Amino acid sequence: MRTPDLSADVADVLVTAADIQTKVAELGATLSRDYAGRELTLVSVLKGALPFMADLMRQITIPVQIDLMEVSSYGGASTETSGLVRILKDLSSSIDGRDVLIVEDIIDTGLTLNYLMRYLRGKNPRSLKICALLDKPARRLVEIDIDYRGFTIPDRFVVGYGLDYGEFYRNLPFIGVLRPEVYGES
Ligand code: IMP
Repeated sequence: MRTPDLSADVADVLVTAADIQTKVAELGATLSRDYAGRELTLVSVLKGALPFMADLMRQITIPVQIDLMEVSSYGGASTETSGLVRILKDLSSSIDGRDVLIVEDIIDTGLTLNYLMRYLRGKNPRSLKICALLDKPARRLVEIDIDYRGFTIPDRFVVGYGLDYGEFYRNLPFIGVLRPEVYGES
């Protein structure tokens, strides 16, 4: 893969940094209301959900604990899902009897979340819900009930705010689409 040029490689900004922050604040307020009087465990999926998790947790005003998992469903720089989900990093603590919210960056085919929901349900949480910053429904292969959703986006491969192409572009503060030549050059 060629060396990325962070500004020149971006063709379109789909969600600005300001719009992300406004939405994250709204989600945080809603979650704080919905889970009022309870404790919440946020389970985030590395690496893409890292910025979302970091921003969202600071907009929640009830007691939260956090845990991190890492799964892989894509190989290398590919933009196609393989359907294969592997756990690279498991939970650090038990979620038995806890209210758990999965914090995800994007739901595309839904295969990752479908697997994760089944896996986490088996660990006997008191409740298990999903908060996804981005929803790309056009490519959904399995039905997923998204309890908290940031933005619905069209069927385009996006980068930024945690999302990568070939492990780069995660540090862009907005959600954008790269120039077609960039996707072709890996
Ligand atoms: P799913 O299993 O197809 O729903 O894919 C979920 C994972 O695929 C996400 O957590 C991302 O890591 C990755 N992914 C899906 N769509 C995109 C995209 O447009 N850009 C970057 N990564 C994506």
